[in-house]
Amino acid sequence: MAAVHQSVLDAIGGTPLFRLARLGADIAAPIYAKAEFLNIGGSVKDRAALSMVLAAERDGLLKPGGTIIEATSGNTGIGLTIVGRQRGYRVIVGVSDKSSAEKSDILRAYGAEVVLATTSVAREDPRHLFNVVTRLTEEIPGAWLANQYDNLANPDAHVRTTGPEIWAQTGGKITHFVAGVGTGGTVTGTGGYLKEASGGSVTVIGADPESSMYGGGDGSPWFVESIGHFLHPETVEDRWPQAYRSEVVDVFERIPDRESLLAARWLAREEGILAGPSSGTAVAAALRVARELGPDDLVVVLLPDSGRSYLSKVHSDAWMRQWGFLEEGDGLRELLDGAAPLVAVDAGATVGEALEALRTAPGGVAPVALARAARPFGVTATEVVGSVEREVLAAALADGFAKPGDPLGALLGPALPTVGVGQSPAEARAALGEARPGVSVLVDGRVAGVLPRAALV
Ligand SMILES: Cc1ncc(COP(=O)(O)O)c(C=O)c1O
Repeated sequence: MAAVHQSVLDAIGGTPLFRLARLGADIAAPIYAKAEFLNIGGSVKDRAALSMVLAAERDGLLKPGGTIIEATSGNTGIGLTIVGRQRGYRVIVGVSDKSSAEKSDILRAYGAEVVLATTSVAREDPRHLFNVVTRLTEEIPGAWLANQYDNLANPDAHVRTTGPEIWAQTGGKITHFVAGVGTGGTVTGTGGYLKEASGGSVTVIGADPESSMYGGGDGSPWFVESIGHFLHPETVEDRWPQAYRSEVVDVFERIPDRESLLAARWLAREEGILAGPSSGTAVAAALRVARELGPDDLVVVLLPDSGRSYLSKVHSDAWMRQWGFLEEGDGLRELLDGAAPLVAVDAGATVGEALEALRTAPGGVAPVALARAARPFGVTATEVVGSVEREVLAAALADGFAKPGDPLGALLGPALPTVGVGQSPAEARAALGEARPGVSVLVDGRVAGVLPRAALV
């Protein structure tokens, strides 16, 4: 018989394992998924939220009538709101403008006050989400900032609950644990516990977006929410969370966005598990790892949250096509393959440098993107800040409005409309409209090329 609880807080944790029988059908090692989306708030973060609030009460940081504040991609906010409201606190949640709209709606439904702020500026910028919530905490009497990134009660939740649960559920037979790394609380606490319980024999695998810094990427943007370590090119001092202990992770599997997103979609279709994109990254990593193992090994992969918060993203065919993650039918591939190679101009370029770069740009137009030292992952669509046109720059020089050494400044035009490589030429023409000089074509969320107007009409 199912449990009867006196409070929803008693229903946090104790999640089941499911064998991934279909995805792992031709793999010798069994793969089990830890279904964290079955927590009362829908994610693994309920555990960290409960742990952090109880620790703050114990330490006297949170008193009756107090206010809980946090900056979060959403799930920690949901957990903190449920726990906070049940224990009688006001809850204010700062949410990144990159997060899905559904996440903010859910927070408000549970009774949180939502403050939207950007994470697309340098960490030092006062508009940055973290600085906005820090300011609020200083201004509101009795406010406590949960600070999941540096709060050790976050990993501790997993040392006390997630780790022991997995150890007991597998009868101590687990050999490999796979999890994504956001704050690092899950992988550090769970992985650390499992290593200790097994006398060091459990291998811990970090599932990381390919361009995230945890696994060795350059920190340029990716398309899986809530995991990885991003580095804005203008950030001066980059800090890693204290909730994360890098020595717990034995190896990183670096997963390209397309592999993560397709894995999340397969998980729903093949296993009947509708989970979020970070679950896709974890499953993709688990499949890679398990393929190298034998029948005596046992892999546990942690699925952090439900796919219901991403119906307009990874689980939408239209969204997948728009960003160039799905290609079915004719699409723009042939036109793209026939076009000249992409020319992208750095936002810091001078007028003269941009004009030089534009000599080989198809249609004399190029996207302008935030500068990075090297671009091993190409120009992510979200890094594009505008566009430049050869004719506009040449005219400005001829008229004396600009000199070759000037910054692009007012000569920077709006970003080109984007279309996914799987979209049709008719959709590309619609995006072009009456006046735009070309469209940027996205493959895997990155600008793969520009199709000038002449190539489309
Ligand atoms: C959907 C999702 N996946 C993964 C993570 C990463 O977990 P952790 O912060 O414990 O590393 C989070 C954390 O917020 C999350 O919300």
